[in-house]
Amino acid sequence: MKITDLSLPESVKEVTIRSGITELYPPQEEAVKAGALEGRNLVLASPTASGKTLVAEFCALKHILEENGKAVYLTPLRALANEKFDEFKKYSTISKSDRKRVRIGISTGDFDSSDPWLERYDIIITTNEKADSLLRHRAKWMDEISLIVADEVHLLNEAERGPTLEIVLARLMQINPDMQILALSATINNVEEIAGWLKADYVTMEWRPVLLKEGILLHNEIQFKDGDSKKLEKKTKNPSTNLAVNTVKSGGQALIFASTRKNAVALAKKFAGEIEAVLSKPAKRSLKHESERILAAGERTRISESLAELVRFGVAFHHAGLGGAHRRIIEDSFRQGKIKVVTATPTLAFGVNLPARTVVIQDYRRYEPGYGYYPISVLEYKQMAGRAGRPKYDKVGEAILTAKTADEADYLMESYVLARPERIWSRLAVERIMRSHVLATIAADFAHTEHGIYDFFGRTFYAYQYDISAIKNIIAKILKYLYAEGMIDVSGENIFATGFGKRVSELYVDPVSAVIIRNALKQKPVYLTELSLLQMISHTPDMGPILRPYTRELDEIAIFMEQHREEFLIDVPNEWEDSIAYEQFLGEVKTAMVLKTWIEEITEDQIIEKFRTQPGDLYRTIESAKWLLHATRELAMLFGEKHIMPWTLELMERIEKGVKKELLPIVKLEGVGRVRGRIIYNAGYKTTEEIKIAKLEELMNLPLIGPRLAKKIKEQVGGFVKKETWERLEKEDAWKQKALTEY
Ligand SMILES: Nc1ncnc2c1ncn2[C@@H]1O[C@H](COP(=O)(O)OP(=O)(O)OP(=O)(O)O)[C@@H](O)[C@H]1O
Ligand SMILES: [Mg+2]
Repeated sequence: MKITDLSLPESVKEVTIRSGITELYPPQEEAVKAGALEGRNLVLASPTASGKTLVAEFCALKHILEENGKAVYLTPLRALANEKFDEFKKYSTISKSDRKRVRIGISTGDFDSSDPWLERYDIIITTNEKADSLLRHRAKWMDEISLIVADEVHLLNEAERGPTLEIVLARLMQINPDMQILALSATINNVEEIAGWLKADYVTMEWRPVLLKEGILLHNEIQFKDGDSKKLEKKTKNPSTNLAVNTVKSGGQALIFASTRKNAVALAKKFAGEIEAVLSKPAKRSLKHESERILAAGERTRISESLAELVRFGVAFHHAGLGGAHRRIIEDSFRQGKIKVVTATPTLAFGVNLPARTVVIQDYRRYEPGYGYYPISVLEYKQMAGRAGRPKYDKVGEAILTAKTADEADYLMESYVLARPERIWSRLAVERIMRSHVLATIAADFAHTEHGIYDFFGRTFYAYQYDISAIKNIIAKILKYLYAEGMIDVSGENIFATGFGKRVSELYVDPVSAVIIRNALKQKPVYLTELSLLQMISHTPDMGPILRPYTRELDEIAIFMEQHREEFLIDVPNEWEDSIAYEQFLGEVKTAMVLKTWIEEITEDQIIEKFRTQPGDLYRTIESAKWLLHATRELAMLFGEKHIMPWTLELMERIEKGVKKELLPIVKLEGVGRVRGRIIYNAGYKTTEEIKIAKLEELMNLPLIGPRLAKKIKEQVGGFVKKETWERLEKEDAWKQKALTEY
């Protein structure tokens, strides 16, 4: 089916054809035949890279241009939301009937806001979590959604994030019964069940635009699923290295999945020398530039240095321990074909389009602390494998599992390559997870009676698969808890949220976190310090994975804890009575210690050295801390704990920037982070007033501050730079730079 034959606005066809797409892929054609463009609910389950997004794009534009509707595109990850946003942007040149352009928006951050500005957008890309929080705020524009796209809907099966998606879809179906639903999924075993729940038809089709050859690598020989085999040139002892070299030599790129960060880094190091050997001179030059970009982005740490070093060889690692800026550079330069081999943890497995001709899955097992090793699911294997051979980049892709023995090779062929993906099960029935959803159901006016609550939960995928009676007990227990803690109240048949309950729901925190904070704020410790608050928020379940202490740190943390006991708002558990709680507590103290060192301007590298906390984890902890301090501030306001308020605001700002108090006015300036802020401050410019009267030459001669930034700083504080001075200084600086590069 040709694009020109579709019942679509001409402008959409034009943009599509201009982007190089002239004909539908077969699964897309099936989706159109099933009525996707006529407003029918549909689950489209087709292999990786089969072009599911395009169907969603067409649906969205049809809604906007022909029905004056509004579309929301849900993704499970921020990175994927960004990629989809970039893809949708091509339509923003199209005019609507009221002569306004189609507006594409993205919203993934700040969970305590109804983002009224989103009302202006026609297509909104967001994460499941953000959509959930918007629903808790009853953002008005959500009643106007006419199309919801749920990407990677098989994620319903994920213990932590599946339930959020499930709740979001159930709520949207409740408030907008006429809305069209388009769910995109990998091939799974029970599509009809998901479709049944969503009152949708389904399309399944085993078709991929680019041939994906799946196989097993054993002793330098690949055995493919289709019976083919291939012998690799034995360059090194490591078969995966040989495979990667083979790919790069033939002009391709490789993505290697490792099970842990450590393995990803170790593998990248193993590849480096071999890959470098096959690089051309110009390739090396451009890699040198990428390497410098990495060092210039953010603080220099041993991790960024090792990454920058590897990038020179055309290799990089990619995992959640890296800061976002570094991850983006790696993704971009891999996309541009500069970096040839990326070794990654499975965070890179979902939905992204990368030019990997070869994907190697180095380990089919995953390790979980306290649980041990377990084999990954077929679904996860298929997702990783599916990153290979993407239409924009390659004609054929290969996805290879590595085996050490013939036995293992047989096992992998049976259990992954030839296996069917699993069924998807709802993961909703867990008290910890349902707590906040039960509260939100009442607080955001989705239900006002026990019956109404059951009615809502009766619309979930869980209730569709099992039976609502199976979760009635959990709901009853949660209602009791919420009542006992004063988050809900009852009057006759009616249940309603108290001021406390409403605020907790909007703040998007677990009710248990809110109770911890409320109770802690009533404590009067001997000394109230920043540590008091940092320790308190680290104790809440919303802090997320605490920074686990290493055995060698335990004593030091325990000593620190004893020294600061009188500052804590939370009692230290008894080591002998409850050793598990005690160990958990040490982890929380460690988290607080890391945050404290961060705001004392300890460098990221020192934090790695002292706590083994990597930048990615540090940033995530900082994000959670900011959000929980905001919640603390709001709850303190609600309960009239005024003494806490000034603390929270200052601490939030310090956590955001990672600075001591004295630096706050300076780091508010754009372009000035904590490193440059400290340089400026130590040079004697301690206030914005002092910066205002400083000479431009003085500022630009400080380390890490060039003329451009100096000018920007001066302008922000209301200083004036004469045109002649600026031109002279800029010229001088250009000479200086030139001189530096020549010598
Ligand atoms: N009809 C088409 N003709 C040519 N290219 C297409 C067509 N449809 C989609 N593509 C391209 O195919 C690539 C893969 O599409 P997309 O990301 O939508 O796959 P997907 O099915 O969502 O895969 P995954 O399950 O991995 O998320 C994109 O680069 C897209 O531009
Ligand atoms: Mg996709």
